[in-house]
Amino acid sequence: MRTQVAIIGAGPAGLLLGQLLHAAGIDNVILEQRSGDYVLSRVRAGVLESGTVRLLDAVGAGTRLHAEGLPHDGFDLLFDGVRHRIDLAGLSGKHVTVYGQTEVTRDLMELRAGQGALTVYEAEKVALHDFDGDAPYVTYLDRGEQKRLDCDFIAGCDGYHGVSRASVPSRALKTFERVYPFGWLGLLADVPPVSHELIYAGEERGFALCSMRSNSRSRYYLQCALNERVDDWSDERFWAELRRRLDPATADALVTGPSLEKSLAPLRSFVAEPMRFGRLFLAGDAAHIVPPTGAKGLNLAASDVHYLSEALREHYAERSSAGIDAYSARALARVWKAERFSWWLTGLMHHFPDHDGFGGRIQQAERAYLVSSPAAMTALAENYVGLPF
Ligand code: FAD
Ligand code: DHB
Repeated sequence: MRTQVAIIGAGPAGLLLGQLLHAAGIDNVILEQRSGDYVLSRVRAGVLESGTVRLLDAVGAGTRLHAEGLPHDGFDLLFDGVRHRIDLAGLSGKHVTVYGQTEVTRDLMELRAGQGALTVYEAEKVALHDFDGDAPYVTYLDRGEQKRLDCDFIAGCDGYHGVSRASVPSRALKTFERVYPFGWLGLLADVPPVSHELIYAGEERGFALCSMRSNSRSRYYLQCALNERVDDWSDERFWAELRRRLDPATADALVTGPSLEKSLAPLRSFVAEPMRFGRLFLAGDAAHIVPPTGAKGLNLAASDVHYLSEALREHYAERSSAGIDAYSARALARVWKAERFSWWLTGLMHHFPDHDGFGGRIQQAERAYLVSSPAAMTALAENYVGLPF
């Protein structure tokens, strides 16, 4: 089999890239190691920047998002029992849209299936070959049968644990990493959200986030120790701990119910440079991870594939390699700003078990400064709604 671009991974990065390339008339095949149902069952991000929405609209995947997504003009920060509103719209002129990653994925999958474009699910033993030369190809097992996909380019959109970055010789990669001494325990439940906007709570017992998927489905997170196990967290224990991390009025308003899903994610910052090796490009979590605090992971995957699809369009339509040559530097410039923001907001909002007295006082001062300074709140709002791309 032959295609122009072989895309590894059918997460948001791979699926959106597939649609952007399709719109530019560039043939592509997606190889995904899991089943479509498995990919759809992973509950992850929930907040879309307007740039991400613009891309989804551009490929024709925005209809349900506009009908069902919730535009949010602000959110609350809660410290010391007091909620402080960050007026995103007033400070930045933009809003964000609350719409789950599972729904983005579903919309993109359905669009792709409707176009008859090929996605091979449950592709096993995907291996990348000769991307440092002119004739790269990918091999894999399709229902036990060995297959070969020849291509012009390979897009590694296969997440942090994928094969693409792992195929690059380690001497060609420079990696940067920060591992945080805590994780997030997430719970999804069909209960109305406690507030119509998100609440990021930074209390002494640890961080908590009140988010949502719709007016009848809530998503909550608790900062927890890295050695916690999901099985040790009954729904009752989760709700009780969440209540303790909210101010009394919010805790009283909390509606609880049986969980639909619970999962634990460690927090990490990670960047691999560069994002291009000959005819292999990395995009999304395959190249970088942010801690979820700033809601940037999915949005960075979107800006990466925007730059990459533009570069490939230029290559095919204009016979120019300028975009391809600039891809890594363009993408990384935006990635590092989102890394900085996610790291900063993580530091602002979490309880650090290793903080000495000084670190704790600096955190208090930073919070007090932030909510008293329109300039500081504007910087927060500008980053949260998403830097331009
Ligand atoms: P992924 O979504 O990881 O997709 C990669 C795809 O590649 C997967 O479908 C995978 O099965 C496939 N794949 C992997 N290896 C191979 C292989 N060898 N061959 C073929 N296919 C392969 N972001 C937020 O903004 N907010 C959040 O609350 C949030 N929560 C998260 C919770 C968890 C547990 C995780 C892991 C991430 C979370 N993120 C969150 C980050 C966000 O979900 C990611 O940034 C986003 O999914 C990145 O999309 P992606 O397409 O680059 O990677
Ligand atoms: C969600 C996750 C985040 O990391 C965040 O900052 C906001 C919302 C969510 O899953 O709803």
